[in-house]
Amino acid sequence: MQNLIINGGNKLEGSINIHGAKNSILPIISATVLLSGRSILHNCPNLSDVSAALEIIKYLGLTYKKNGSDIEVVSRCPARFEIPDELMRSMRSSVMFLGAIISRCKSAVITLPGGCKLGPRPIDIHIEALSKLGVRVKREQDRFEFFAEEGLKGADIRLRFPSVGATENIIMAAVSALGTTRIFGAAKEPEIKDLADFLNKAGADIKGAGTNIIVIKGTGDLKGIEHTVIPDRIEAATYMAAAAVTGGNITIKNTLPEHLTAVLDVFKKCGCEIETQSDSISICAPNRLLPVYKTLTGVYPAFPTDAGPLLISVLSSAKGRSVFYERIFKNRYAFIPEMRKFGADIETFGSRAVIRGVGTLKGADVECTDLRGGAALIIAALKAEGTTTIGNLCHIRRGYQDIANNLRQLGADIIEK
Ligand code: UD1
Repeated sequence: MQNLIINGGNKLEGSINIHGAKNSILPIISATVLLSGRSILHNCPNLSDVSAALEIIKYLGLTYKKNGSDIEVVSRCPARFEIPDELMRSMRSSVMFLGAIISRCKSAVITLPGGCKLGPRPIDIHIEALSKLGVRVKREQDRFEFFAEEGLKGADIRLRFPSVGATENIIMAAVSALGTTRIFGAAKEPEIKDLADFLNKAGADIKGAGTNIIVIKGTGDLKGIEHTVIPDRIEAATYMAAAAVTGGNITIKNTLPEHLTAVLDVFKKCGCEIETQSDSISICAPNRLLPVYKTLTGVYPAFPTDAGPLLISVLSSAKGRSVFYERIFKNRYAFIPEMRKFGADIETFGSRAVIRGVGTLKGADVECTDLRGGAALIIAALKAEGTTTIGNLCHIRRGYQDIANNLRQLGADIIEK
């Protein structure tokens, strides 16, 4: 698949099943490094980031088999504790292996992780936290060597920002530390709870995941288990945005509405009717959406930064002026120049974006700049009059399984070419 070709204007109708969460499966694959024996992971999305994570466990000496949406991993003590630069740069979540490798091998060597270019993505919070657990670090430019010859020791860690990745890395390092670790100011994202549920089933003792204080008692051996990954809340938000922008009416299945409260509130403000059941969301959109006076991204349960580009795209054709504030990443707006090619009227002032809804968007030739920015372009194309060609789809493949087929099933005129 080189490009997506979309003829906009079709209202989306029907139902769609959401895949497992990218941001759950990635740390869970890292966590298999901590286990011994066979694990079976259900509801795994087929994404290039997942393949990249599996490449890393293979390099470390674990084995895996894929069977549809199941992944079977056979864990053993890693044969290596260094991740080569090429694998590190394949995605941001490569950094999630740090906690697990140092926990298991008492040494780890990594370089700076890759991932979307959303502004500086340092790992200083991860490193400061690990040093509290007794890890020493030696840095040479972008290469980091970590040592914990005497083993990891539980400690109290106060995060100055509730970093999702750092919280997950600390959990993975602390499960085998001597004594108790308490994380104060932890991130509360549902994917952190999913990681903790996975590790607890394997024999860990983690309490409070999903709140801002997490307590981890170091335990002995962790054994392979079966686990079903939670649904991807950002994928669900993406199909909601696609339905909203086209004046559509769709039901999103295999999703957890309680993970999407802030997103549902914003779509209601846009004038959409929303009905939820325990594992589904139905959204019915008016022909022209209302603007949303002010939306701010924030840490969970606030409006997620990953859904920001989707909302900006939706608001580009709303009836009036909306203002959006991105408060997590410094450079989320790289996709906005591409949005302007559709005729969108969006101005940015630092973290603030002012979106003046235009009556019609026009098809354009655009390139994905990052994962969620790329999804925003697909949403604009579904609305736009005429034909859009979207290139640089490697970003989309990182986070969306079968997006073209799924949208076609809902009535969109979209092909891969
Ligand atoms: C995770 C998600 C990503 C989401 C983000 C915020 C995964 C695989 N990715 O990314 O989709 O957009 O949470 O919800 O789960 N920071 C530092 N120092 C650090 C770590 C982070 O300054 O050591 C800063 C980052 O630059 C950023 C902010 O903290 O500005 C949030 O980062 P973090 O919560 O760590 O996001 P990720 O775990 O990378």
